[in-house]
Amino acid sequence: MKMWSGRFRQPLDPDFERWQRSFSFDRRLLRYELAASSAHARALKDAGVLSSEELISILQGLQQIGEQADASPSFLNDDEAEDVHHFVEKQLVALIGETGYKLHSGRSRNEQIAADLRLYVRTAIDQLRHELAELCAVLGDRAEQAGDTAMPAYTHLQRAEPVLASHWLLAYVEMFLRDAERLADCRKRLNVSPLGSGAVAGATLPLDRAFMAETLGFDGFTANSIDATSDRDFAMEFVGALSILATHLSRWAEEMILFSSQEYGFLGLPEAYSTGSSAMPQKKNPDLLELVRGKSSRVLGNAVALMVAVKGLPLAYNKDLQETQEQLFDSSDTLLQMLPLVAGWMKAVDFHFDRMQQAAQSGFMNAWAAATYLVKRGGPSRLAHERIGKAVQMCIERGCELKDLPLEHLQSLSPAFGQDFYESVQLLSVLAIHDVPGGTAPARVRQAISTTRKKIDLLREEVRTQETHAHA
Ligand code: ARG
Repeated sequence: MKMWSGRFRQPLDPDFERWQRSFSFDRRLLRYELAASSAHARALKDAGVLSSEELISILQGLQQIGEQADASPSFLNDDEAEDVHHFVEKQLVALIGETGYKLHSGRSRNEQIAADLRLYVRTAIDQLRHELAELCAVLGDRAEQAGDTAMPAYTHLQRAEPVLASHWLLAYVEMFLRDAERLADCRKRLNVSPLGSGAVAGATLPLDRAFMAETLGFDGFTANSIDATSDRDFAMEFVGALSILATHLSRWAEEMILFSSQEYGFLGLPEAYSTGSSAMPQKKNPDLLELVRGKSSRVLGNAVALMVAVKGLPLAYNKDLQETQEQLFDSSDTLLQMLPLVAGWMKAVDFHFDRMQQAAQSGFMNAWAAATYLVKRGGPSRLAHERIGKAVQMCIERGCELKDLPLEHLQSLSPAFGQDFYESVQLLSVLAIHDVPGGTAPARVRQAISTTRKKIDLLREEVRTQETHAHA
């Protein structure tokens, strides 16, 4: 039986009927639909709408539906179900008879879909944060293994200053930790129950909203029924946070692709995550990286599609909102599949630390440190900059580095240059310059590795407790 056919004189056009269904994609919300329906059934009993026997029979029926779905996915091949809500009602009635029709008393699918989606996003956030923590842990290990290896840091993709390779790797950890935090923030705001909001103006029965919220692990219930049934902010925040995460992964992938090229030679691609060419026998291609970069586009596209679907809607529920589900699923599936692969790649990649170290020695990346040498001798920074710029020019003409310029040449630019200049432009001295808490000197980077590890452990711990609470 349809959920709404009473006032209709004509059947639906069969093509339209098929086309408007959402069960092909919202079937994945089944476990949340069952959980929310159980909470609703209990509230109905407390409101005096269901007898104890009816409640027990409904709860058992709902449980059985879940078990059957787990046991055989083909149980969900239902060509008549309009959506997951209709499917549950149909199956419940098939299992327990007419009492099954009592479950929908006082509620609307508009609040149900809002509740199901919040529960879905909450679980996805917990899983994504778990994967992010694991990826960060791998990056932390690799940073530690890099030891005191130096490499060029780039701005404008030109060699800028030498840094420790570990400092470079920790930059990615920072991005992914922020992503995890953004998701936690989204989780905080979404964790309120819309149940009891009805279709738009509240439930038609005195259902205990606090009780239903608590049963489902929500921190409380929504304040306004019109907002609650039409709000998809949590969905937009979620795909928004995922877009930023996908952007980070895409930048990461792009950089690794560059660094794997023979022109850089900073890393060897792990064979387990690369493919060959059907034509050129010598090729090893960075497919994982390219697909990470490529798939990030669909995550960004989903965010735009979702927001555009919502932006023209008057309050409250409109069927357009059905079109906001697949973007959620696709963005979260895409990243949930991607993150463990990225972690696997990161674990397997072969860094060419010798090449990095060698690249850190040339290209005048000590020029700023050289200018600072003059500043420390009391020169104005602008003039020091100018003089070292001239010294670099001399080097380019002679085909050498700053350390190779004879002292007389340097002194022709400024009398402040002394023999100790040569020591100050050596790689180790340049690396050691920023020696304050939060600085980039090797000892400070070692500290950063250990504080970062603590942050990662904290995230892991948070994810563990959240998972236990949500699934208790
Ligand atoms: N399948 C619908 C959706 O995803 C459920 C809500 C239907 N509500 C309604 N008034 N037709 O949005």
